[in-house]
Amino acid sequence: MTLKFRYISLLYILSLFTHVSCDVKEERKLVIGFSQCVSNDAWREAMHEEMYRELSFYPSLDLVIKDAGGDSKVQIENIKAFQEMGVDLLIVSPNESAPITGVVEEVFQSGIPVIVVDRNINSSQFSAYIGGDSFEIGKTVGQYILNTYPNDHRILEIWGLKGSSPAKERHQGLRSTIDGSDHYIKYQIDGEWEREVAKERFREFLKSNQDAQFDIVFCHNDVMAISASEVCKEFGLVDVKILGIDALPGPRAGLQAVSDGVLDATFFYPTGGDKAIEVAWKILSNDSFEKLNFMQTAPVDFTNIRVIKQQTDRIINQQANIIRQSEMIASQVKIYNNQRGLLIVFGMTLLIAVVSLGFVFKSLKEKQVTNKKLKRKNDEILNQKEQIVQFAKDAEEATQYKLEFFTNVSHEFRTPLTLIQGPVEDMLANSNASPFKENLILIRKNTYRLLRLVNQLLDFRKIDSGKLAIRVSEITLESFILEIMSVFMKHAKDEQIRFKLFCEDSSLKLWCDPLMLDKVIFNLLSNSFKFTPKKGSVSIRVFKDSLNYEAVIQIEDTGEGMSEEELKHVFDRFYQGSSGVRNIGSGLGLALARELVEIQQGQIHAQSKLGESTVFEIRMKLGKDHFQKGDFLETDFKDLVLDHESYVADESTKPAKIRDNLEAEKSILVVEDDKEIREYLRRGLSHSYQILEAQNIDVAFSLAVDNIPDLITCDLMIKSQNGFDLVAKLKDDSRTSSIPIIVISAKSSQEDHLTGVKLGVDDFMSKPFSITFLIERINNIFKNRSKIEERFLHSLAISEDKSIESSTKKVNKKFINEFRTAVEENMSNPEIGVNDICRQLGLSRGQLYRKVKAELGYSVNDYIVKVRLQKAKFLLGDGNLSISEIGFQTGFKTAAYFSTVFKNSYGMTPSEFREKRKS
Ligand code: FRU
Repeated sequence: MTLKFRYISLLYILSLFTHVSCDVKEERKLVIGFSQCVSNDAWREAMHEEMYRELSFYPSLDLVIKDAGGDSKVQIENIKAFQEMGVDLLIVSPNESAPITGVVEEVFQSGIPVIVVDRNINSSQFSAYIGGDSFEIGKTVGQYILNTYPNDHRILEIWGLKGSSPAKERHQGLRSTIDGSDHYIKYQIDGEWEREVAKERFREFLKSNQDAQFDIVFCHNDVMAISASEVCKEFGLVDVKILGIDALPGPRAGLQAVSDGVLDATFFYPTGGDKAIEVAWKILSNDSFEKLNFMQTAPVDFTNIRVIKQQTDRIINQQANIIRQSEMIASQVKIYNNQRGLLIVFGMTLLIAVVSLGFVFKSLKEKQVTNKKLKRKNDEILNQKEQIVQFAKDAEEATQYKLEFFTNVSHEFRTPLTLIQGPVEDMLANSNASPFKENLILIRKNTYRLLRLVNQLLDFRKIDSGKLAIRVSEITLESFILEIMSVFMKHAKDEQIRFKLFCEDSSLKLWCDPLMLDKVIFNLLSNSFKFTPKKGSVSIRVFKDSLNYEAVIQIEDTGEGMSEEELKHVFDRFYQGSSGVRNIGSGLGLALARELVEIQQGQIHAQSKLGESTVFEIRMKLGKDHFQKGDFLETDFKDLVLDHESYVADESTKPAKIRDNLEAEKSILVVEDDKEIREYLRRGLSHSYQILEAQNIDVAFSLAVDNIPDLITCDLMIKSQNGFDLVAKLKDDSRTSSIPIIVISAKSSQEDHLTGVKLGVDDFMSKPFSITFLIERINNIFKNRSKIEERFLHSLAISEDKSIESSTKKVNKKFINEFRTAVEENMSNPEIGVNDICRQLGLSRGQLYRKVKAELGYSVNDYIVKVRLQKAKFLLGDGNLSISEIGFQTGFKTAAYFSTVFKNSYGMTPSEFREKRKS
């Protein structure tokens, strides 16, 4: 099905559905209210039948009949009720004319169309009148009497209801014909249209008028005529002619009565029921209609009764047929409606089915496309997965190779380290080694340190590969910990650190792997001592947590503490944090401690307050049920050798105090946070230089400003600080900007070098470094500096008066430096005055004069001139500036003045000096 066709079909079905649903929409039925004056007789029944028969042709009309039972008051009520109901049209057959006229007018005036049938009102305020012309009927009756009974002159008239129009009109019609002839109405009886009333009254009349003579009884309708015939029979009045009106078909009605000889004649008085409905429809559908619709009359007697009866019988049959057919039509309509309903449902279902089919088709197509895409994606993913698996395999293999290599290398390290360690121990034991003792101790200490690191790495390797077997035996915690503590005692004493064990129960026993626990506690204590300053405290608390059935070991130090971030990672392998406070170095000790605790199903936690304290807490399960059978050690753990030598070696021998070299000519500021490296540098440099030490940037800067050292060595990673910050600060400050700086760092990438060069760093050295090499570098820098100074003004004061130099170099170097800097900074200002310099140096004029004279042997102004001339000399020899430009730059107001002063000092003019230099 093409897309176009599908849409056309859909539109068709939609239009069909819309069309059908419009048909189905029920139109509101129009209601006709019929106020009937009386309905207990055949004539009225015939009227109703005709109405209903006619109604079957107008399905949109509804008929509601209210019967007044011959009571005009009731009829008024009925009409008002119809009005309130809001009927679309009112049909009235008034019981009596006068009483009903008002209410009919009212309804008509309210806009409801009114059709008056059969009997009339005393007004023309209605839409249409339908009925027989009773006056005309009366006239026809009179004519019939004159023609048929020329010799029978005396008439007895039995009236319908006197207040009703047909009764009056029939009487008047009759009179209009017979008046003036020999015929006359001799007696009148009030029959009120009713069979029984007429019968009773006629009987009464005959009884009370036994000599009454009459030839014809004329009754206003057939029912009263049939009663009168019966009464005549009763009274033996056989020759009396009896005439009626209505000529209704049916068993006890007028036509049958004529046919049976009960009546002599009757006159057609049609009900007009069908006509009333036809006119009502016209009015309601705004069709044109006649206002007055009179029905024709004709006499029926023995001369024509047969033909008429046949015809009426045929009509009755046809009417019955019509009724049957209309019933059939109704049932067909019902079937049609049902089928229409079904069609709608079917149409809707079809529509939904087509639409759904469309969607299904569309989504199937989309699904096919998506499936294709998915398949392609899937294939790609599968490919990628295979690649990843292959990569992972390769990576795993590579890792395995690396780890094996790493393990092998670690093993390999142990041999040379042990081979270093042995001879060093031997040399230390030899008294001839004393000149090298300090270095030998340093070698031994770091050999142990390296060994410990290698062992820790191998332990990790074992843990990772699941090869670290646990060997459980029972220990007494107090003695076990005391033994470990003993190795730290000396260090604690030297550093005046309070080092205590608080054990609640000295007999508290624990099943554990003693070698592992030893490493854990040893590592934690090493860590605590590493960060606990002089006069601090390291304490161990051991107690039993009965509630959790655990042994708790807490190690608390009053060290530097940790930040929250550091605390989070304190047990992470190789984590060094921003400052690397705890795991500085390898980042292994605490991570290994955690692995070793957890392998024994214990727990380890740390709490810390930055700058205050740190507590490590180990929780070990009591009892031995949590270990497996194969975990237990067969021998006593005391047979095992605990690995404590490393720390003993660390702290056992303090290096001899290095004496400060106060005699040295130059000073060097060493900025380094690692105590040992600092000491190493100090030891190496103090032979030739006076050494100042700083552990952090702030101290370093204030020492530099206060002492103006001749050179600074600076580490790049100083606790949480960056060494480059210090370099930048020093180079930015005029007091310290000229001090040469050597950066010594393990962190020395290309970028670091570039940053350093940009900041003005004079040299770089990578860790590890040789002290001899460093001294060489320092000497080089100094040599270069003095060459420059010789050519420039730095040598000024010193070179011209050696005695002053020797007396000032140590004490007032700072002042000379500051004074010189102040002069240099203001060099180009010819107006530079003593006051400006005083302000800059924070001295009074007197103080400045005295100090300059004492330190330099010049007056302030002479010194300023000297500095200007030195700079001019330098510029004359070096730069491309003109002589007058040089004079101006060095603060001489005019070229002539510059020339004169220069000649006075050097015996030649600036241009002569320049010429000489060139040649
Ligand atoms: C029926 C009837 C008829 C008569 C007509 C006059 O109720 O009495 O017999 O012709 O009413 O309104």
